[in-house]
Amino acid sequence: MSMKIMITAAEPTPVRWAAEAANVIAAVLKAHPAATIGFPTGETPLPVYAELRRRVTQGQIDVSRCRALMLDEYLDPPEESYTSWSWLSHEVFAPLGLSSDRVRRLPWHSKGVETACAAFERRLRLEDGCDLQILGLGANGHIGFNEPGSAADSRTRAVKLTAATAAANRAYWHGEYEPEWAVTQGIATILAARKILLLARGGAKASILRRALTGPRDPEVPASFLRGASAVHVLADEAAAAALPRSLDYNIEWL
Ligand code: PGA
Repeated sequence: MSMKIMITAAEPTPVRWAAEAANVIAAVLKAHPAATIGFPTGETPLPVYAELRRRVTQGQIDVSRCRALMLDEYLDPPEESYTSWSWLSHEVFAPLGLSSDRVRRLPWHSKGVETACAAFERRLRLEDGCDLQILGLGANGHIGFNEPGSAADSRTRAVKLTAATAAANRAYWHGEYEPEWAVTQGIATILAARKILLLARGGAKASILRRALTGPRDPEVPASFLRGASAVHVLADEAAAAALPRSLDYNIEWL
């Protein structure tokens, strides 16, 4: 296991922070132009996606051979426009020119969901797995929609969202839609990625980031299982890193 924590200084808008995340992604693409990269939804990665769009438009990053992987999805939203797929298509896939044949989509209907999740896992294995999984960090410690209580050996499956996660996701949709059920890559699915980039921004993530990186490996804090992954980069701004003990036994880089 290798864990590297990169901490960026406070800034009014997360420019440096987003650039550092884009650097990690660019390095993976440089080493593996046909890399498979998993993309999360949420507020946290938005500046990273803006920076990726900028670099791709300017020809600094080439994603023409890369494949995209979904991390999680809502189940049975009232229409397709309320899916993570639609959100990611708008933020990432379409602007980066990743056509749908290069995106590994998760199911969004509960009918047949188990079969569809198994097919997602099978295809991921057949296609040699994930080179880089990007993750946000839930306020309750979830990664993907692996809510507290998720098992370390869990695989892609349907899950019921906690009330707090459902409410947070309602806010993304301006109150128009509140998801109840979702599909998520499992903890074991995520940990199988050859590299993981965990993104955290803002003081609201400080205490959960500390628990994830320094507390026991505990299903109640699913992100704590990341310490079992083969290579993890944590990119936190100063506010999100504020509660980390200075004595932390990881490779810490102040940026
Ligand atoms: P956020 O959500 O990026 O909107 O804070 C992260 C998450 O819930 O995984």
